[in-house]
Amino acid sequence: MNNLEPNSLIYYNQTYRCIMDHNLIFDKLWKEYSDINPSANNIHALLTAEGENIVNDHIAFRTYDIPGIDIKALSIPFLKAGYVDRGDYVFEAKRLRAKHYEHSTDKTAPKVFISELITSDFSEVVQATAQKIATATLAKINTSEELIFALSSWGKISYHTYKQLLEESEYAAWMYVWGFRANHFTIFINYLEKYNSIEVLNNKLKEEGYTLNSSGGEIKGSKEQLLKQSSTLADIVKVDFAEGSYNIPCCYYEFAERFENAPGKLYTGFIASSADKIFESTDMR
Ligand code: NI
Repeated sequence: MNNLEPNSLIYYNQTYRCIMDHNLIFDKLWKEYSDINPSANNIHALLTAEGENIVNDHIAFRTYDIPGIDIKALSIPFLKAGYVDRGDYVFEAKRLRAKHYEHSTDKTAPKVFISELITSDFSEVVQATAQKIATATLAKINTSEELIFALSSWGKISYHTYKQLLEESEYAAWMYVWGFRANHFTIFINYLEKYNSIEVLNNKLKEEGYTLNSSGGEIKGSKEQLLKQSSTLADIVKVDFAEGSYNIPCCYYEFAERFENAPGKLYTGFIASSADKIFESTDMR
């Protein structure tokens, strides 16, 4: 691992095989995410000020199942950074597939959850929009490693199209506006000292005025399922569309408390029924 290219997160080893450093990836993704989500920065600052050391449990990406921008494509930089495929999920009602990845050696590295919309199950509008996004994105990036930082680069977005997508799939509409970025980061509650249970942390956040996603209850999952999760409702931010500015949901912050599935070993997977409700943290309808 010798050369870090200027303005790039891509290293080349002695045989010029491209590898990536996962810590640099998450630093850049956090910056892109927290820059547009004031609540994430504020909650991070609130807990840090109380002496907490924040560990990230996982991040999540959304995409469409178009080759070149699908789960397989988004996973490439993580595989090059030492991640391995650890789980498959299906969300029937939302017409999504997902996979999760874990770092093969760094046990405190965040897990990566990537989902994709099964576009063939939707209208021509959804399919054409997804195809347009794929074509524009692939024309813009130089290597597959850049896809996770590609953001939304498909020209001026239309509020009319956004509303059309929203009628069929909130997920499709979110992706059209926000694109390739971390949809959320997740505070790993087990590593907190003072707020080391989801109930205590949720109460603190509500006291501070944050609204939690209550779809399926504020706490998703149980100790028996080895994972409890909660999340803020996404921040509402002003976005410029071709037709003018509109306030729409952006990203959210998630909180995860994990339980042991063997002595000294925390469960590292995800619960599909809980994730299904967490997706609704960006749904304000
Ligand atoms: Ni999550």
